[in-house]
Amino acid sequence: MTVAAPSRTVLMDAVRTAVLAPSLHNSQPWRFRVGRGRVDVHADQSRRLAVLDPSGREMMISVGAAVFTLRVALRRHGFVPGLELFPDAGEPDLVARLTAARFAVPTPAAELLAEAIPHRHTNRWPFGPRPVPAAALGELADAARREGAFLSVAGPDTTSAVLELARTADLELRGRPGYRAELGRWTAGGAKRRDGVPVRAMGPTDRLRTLPVRHFAEALAFPLPSAPFESDPAILVLATAGDTVFDHLRAGQALQRVLLTATSLGLATGLISQPAELAATRARLADAVSSAWPQIVLRVGDGRPVRSTPRRPLEETLLPSGGPAAAPAARAGRSRWSPR
Ligand SMILES: Cc1cc2nc3c(=O)[nH]c(=O)nc-3n(C[C@H](O)[C@H](O)[C@H](O)COP(=O)(O)O)c2cc1C
Repeated sequence: MTVAAPSRTVLMDAVRTAVLAPSLHNSQPWRFRVGRGRVDVHADQSRRLAVLDPSGREMMISVGAAVFTLRVALRRHGFVPGLELFPDAGEPDLVARLTAARFAVPTPAAELLAEAIPHRHTNRWPFGPRPVPAAALGELADAARREGAFLSVAGPDTTSAVLELARTADLELRGRPGYRAELGRWTAGGAKRRDGVPVRAMGPTDRLRTLPVRHFAEALAFPLPSAPFESDPAILVLATAGDTVFDHLRAGQALQRVLLTATSLGLATGLISQPAELAATRARLADAVSSAWPQIVLRVGDGRPVRSTPRRPLEETLLPSGGPAAAPAARAGRSRWSPR
C-alpha cells in the first residue's frame, strides 16, 4: 500500500516538538533537515561538550532522545514512523531518517506519551518522602525494555553504592582541567540565552551531601541555597547491552520513553550522569547493577513543579531542505515503531 507522505506542516510540527527533548547541559546538539515526506536528524558536533563528553556518547544519547520525541510526534499525527539509522555512509553526522511507514490511529499509550512531552522537565529539587509505587517502577522498566534497553531499579544497598559512585565521580570531574570553564560556558549568559542551564532550573545543593545533583552554579559568582534531599531516593540505572553509537542512540530513545512515561504517571525526574562519565566509576556502576553498559542514572519521585528551560529558535536548528524524496518506507534495514 502506498502511504501519503506527511505534509511539511506535520513534519515541521514534529521537529518543533522534538527540540523539547532533554540534552546534556541543554546543549541541543541536533539539526534537522525537513525534506519531502521525511525528516533527517543530524548530530551537531559543534555542540558536543569536549571536556565532559569527548567521545560524544552523551551527545548521541541526547540526539536519541530527540529521535524518540520525533517518533512520538509523528505517531500522534497518525503516521507509524519508519526509522533508518545512519542512512548515508558518506555523512556520518546524519544520524537518523524518519519517514512514514503507514497510517494508524494513535493508540491511547502513544497519546499519553505525546501529551507528556511539553510537561517533562528535569527536576533538581528535593523530592517528597512518598515511595514510588512498584507498579509505576514496573512501567518505567517496561518503557526501557520496549526500546531495547534495561532499567534497573536499585534496592537500598545498590542505591547507596550508586550514590557513592556518583559522589566520587562528581568530585573527580570537578577537579578535571577545563570542567569548570566548560560548565561556565553552558550556564552563563542570563535570560537572553536560548540554550544551556539557566539559574531558574538549578535546584539547591543537598545539605546532607548524599545526592550529587550536578552543581551547575559552580562557575557562577553566587552559591545556591542548600536543602535536605530525600533520604530514601528512588534510583534507576539505564543500561544497554553494548556501547556502540547505536547503543547510545538506543539509550537516548529509551531514556526519553522512560522520562515521558514517568511524566505521564505524575512523577518528577532528575538525571545523574556523572558516574557513567568516568571509565573507573562506570565499571563499578556496571558491577553494582549487574549490567553491561550503564548509560545514565535517574532519580524519580514526588517533585514540586518546575519551569521549562529555553530552546533555540527553530530556524537555528534547521538545515536547508532539499534532497531526494523519501523512498518507500518498507525497505530492508528500516525499523518501524509499533506502539501498543
Ligand atoms: C545525556 C544527558 C545527561 C544529563 N546529565 C545531567 C546531569 O548529570 N545532571 C542534571 O541535573 N541534568 C542532566 N541532564 C538533564 C539536562 O541538563 C536537561 O535535559 C537540559 O538542561 C534541558 O532541560 P529539561 O530536561 O528540563 O528540558 C542530562 C541530560 C542528558 C540527555
